[in-house]
Amino acid sequence: MQSQFEPLICTKRIDETADTTTFEFKKLDDGLFEYKAGQFLTFEVDVAGEVEYRAYSLSSTPSKPESVAVTIKRVAGGKVSNYLLDHLQAGIALPVMAPAGEFTIENNQVTPDILLMSAGSGITPCMSMARWLLDTEQKVNIHFIYSARSETDIIMFSELESLNQQHNNFQLSFILEETDNCEFIAGRLDVINFTQLVSDVAGKTIFTCGPTAYMQVVESLAESRGFDMDLFHKESFVPEVVEEPEQSDNGVKYQVVAPQYGKSFTINAGKTLLDALEEAGVPIIGACRSGVCGSCKCKVTGNVESSSSATLSAEQIQQGYVLSCSSKVTSDAVVEL
Ligand code: FES
Repeated sequence: MQSQFEPLICTKRIDETADTTTFEFKKLDDGLFEYKAGQFLTFEVDVAGEVEYRAYSLSSTPSKPESVAVTIKRVAGGKVSNYLLDHLQAGIALPVMAPAGEFTIENNQVTPDILLMSAGSGITPCMSMARWLLDTEQKVNIHFIYSARSETDIIMFSELESLNQQHNNFQLSFILEETDNCEFIAGRLDVINFTQLVSDVAGKTIFTCGPTAYMQVVESLAESRGFDMDLFHKESFVPEVVEEPEQSDNGVKYQVVAPQYGKSFTINAGKTLLDALEEAGVPIIGACRSGVCGSCKCKVTGNVESSSSATLSAEQIQQGYVLSCSSKVTSDAVVEL
């Protein structure tokens, strides 16, 4: 199996706030990066002998292709994020998958009036979009609305302020839970401050990223204002905690063969193909486990039901490729990586 990972070397750490750091990377051969603003990278990280995979949105702009950057915030129980914050230094290389993700300006319906709405570390893809739109002098108006706990928690504060001063088409608003500075809006995003900030939603496009609860608020505020939801785009790789009822497989089993690895096993209907392949010892990578990163792609001959094919091209789907984390076989099948 050809490796989907390429080593990138960390070249710089920039502390953004007390708990958030930007890490810059370059290729070992100094090659250029190609990606779209809003995409993410999936890192392979060895944490105390256990290999973990995590996706982080790029905060850098594709218009400066010599390097890429991700911005990582410390979170309670965040095994990989906290490990990287504590251990990743300039000079250390990590295996990283090619940039991926559909949360981009190019892949979505967009108008020239763009609202970039983010909270906490969700600022990263919005920052990448803002940097790219301004750097390449796109003919758009950007309103950047960022929510944080306090002024000291604003990530990339000074850069945002200078973008605001330098560009007439960039408007900046902060909503802070704890503030007595009248330059900022105090509290959390709600119907009152949203209406105050965006008096007319007609003709605008929203890109939003942040904690799931925050994005739900943005979505319901947009809906309540009669927003054209074709122009509403939210980052979806943040795994959502959904309580799914246990699925009964009624005892149905199928036979799956992975000839490249000499594996043949039965799979209970209702189990994802990724889980079954991992249990059988097939070396497949499930980085996001939510159908957005593409790392678990495999080719299936047989019948499959898939809930996501987000990163697959029409040609790959035609050839039988599926995302195994989002697929269940519904017949005996042969799997190739
Ligand atoms: S693990 Fe990311 S798409 Fe399946």
